[in-house]
Parts: sequence; C-alpha cells; structure tokens
Amino acid sequence: MSEIINDKQSVAIHAANLVEDGMLVGLGTGSTANYFIEALARRKQEEQLQFSTVSSSVVSMMKAQQLGLDLVAIEHIRQLDLYVDGADEVSPEMSLLKGRGFDLVKEKLLAKASEQFYVLIDNSKLVIRIGEVFPIPVEVTPFSWQMVLRSLQQIGGEGELRKNTAGDGLAITSHGSLVLDMTFDSSLEAVELNMELNAIPGVVEHGIFYQLATHVFMAKDGVVVER
Ligand code: A5P
Repeated sequence: MSEIINDKQSVAIHAANLVEDGMLVGLGTGSTANYFIEALARRKQEEQLQFSTVSSSVVSMMKAQQLGLDLVAIEHIRQLDLYVDGADEVSPEMSLLKGRGFDLVKEKLLAKASEQFYVLIDNSKLVIRIGEVFPIPVEVTPFSWQMVLRSLQQIGGEGELRKNTAGDGLAITSHGSLVLDMTFDSSLEAVELNMELNAIPGVVEHGIFYQLATHVFMAKDGVVVER
C-alpha cells in the first residue's frame, strides 16, 4: 500500500528534488520545513546527493541531525545557495508573513543571504493582503516593548504581547525577545508596513518578508504549481 501524502509533503518533496550536488541549503522551521528535511535526507540516502545544511532554529537543527544531514553553524556562513521554508501567508506579489514560530531572526537572515528562496505552501496560505488572516509578529527587545507598541499604534496598529503556550506568561523568542502580535488597517500594504516596521527603534525583526522569495511552490490536491 502506498503512503498517503498530504499537500505539505508533496510540495516539500518537489523542492527537495530541486536541490543539486554541492549546494549549501538553509532549512526553515515548521511542519512543511520538516517534510522538506525528511525528503532531503531520503535523497542523501538513496541517491548519495552531497550537500550541506544550515538551520534556522534549534528544532530544524535537531531534525537534520537526527536524519544525518551535514550541518554548518550559521555563524560560519556569509551566503547560501538555497533557503527553503514554509509561510503563514503569501500575497499575489509574493510578500510573505512568517513568524508564528520563535525564529524570525534566523529565518529572515537566511532568506536574505540566499541566492534562491523557495517558499512552500498549500493553498490555505494564499491571501490577497498580508495580515489578512494572522496578526503581524513584531519581535522587540524586552525593555522597549511599550515604546514600540506606542510607535505601532501611531501608524494605526493594534495588538498585544504574545502569551506563552500555557497562557500563564509571555512568549520569549529563541533570542530572548518579546513578540507583539499586531493588526493594522487594511489599507496598509506590505511594502509600506515593511518600511514602517524597519524604521522603529527597538524592533528586532518582524514577520513581513518583502521581496525575498524567489519562488513560491504551492500544492493543491497533490499537484504542485509554481505561483
Ligand atoms: C516559522 O516561524 C513560521 O514562519 C513557519 O514557517 C510558518 O508558520 C509555516 O509553518 P507550517 O509549515 O507548519 O505551516
């Protein structure tokens, strides 16, 4: 009996098949990125594909390690060939919303330093406007959160500090930052929000990935298309 494959797996396998010998590949974080890591490990085992990886989080690093992938520490690299990750939202002009996890900083660094950035989604991630479904995560240095929140409110944002999973404290990112989950007026486009958020002191990073994706691959009912 053949294994049942969901759309996240289909698109992950598609991307893994595009990896070439000798590449340095960045590993994203999340369920789709995990499927990609598994598919890459299969290619290494079955085809003896040679490549190195750099991870965007402790979780993807552990997954890669368990599967025997070669890992390079992010501190040791200046650029990479390919970064592959999922996203929470993708707009028609290929802006992304990311950061439901806790590793925004490394994710955006790797996306920016990479020659190619493949974004892997199923069709539930397509939106007309970034911020349509999810709040926009804004990572802040802990001591600055009130001043950053005020700056965000001045451009029409509303939001609050993210709680931890148990709901009894604040969520802390991998780098010790707090996260403000913000909603903005629907007239503000990703291009403007990206500029505004980049300019606020105290913001460590935010979830809008503007003009970083080079390819968006989407699976729907097992069929993968490039958007
Ligand atoms: C990690 O911070 C996130 O940006 C994920 O890449 C995003 O939430 C997609 O996750 P899934 O692949 O689990 O849907």
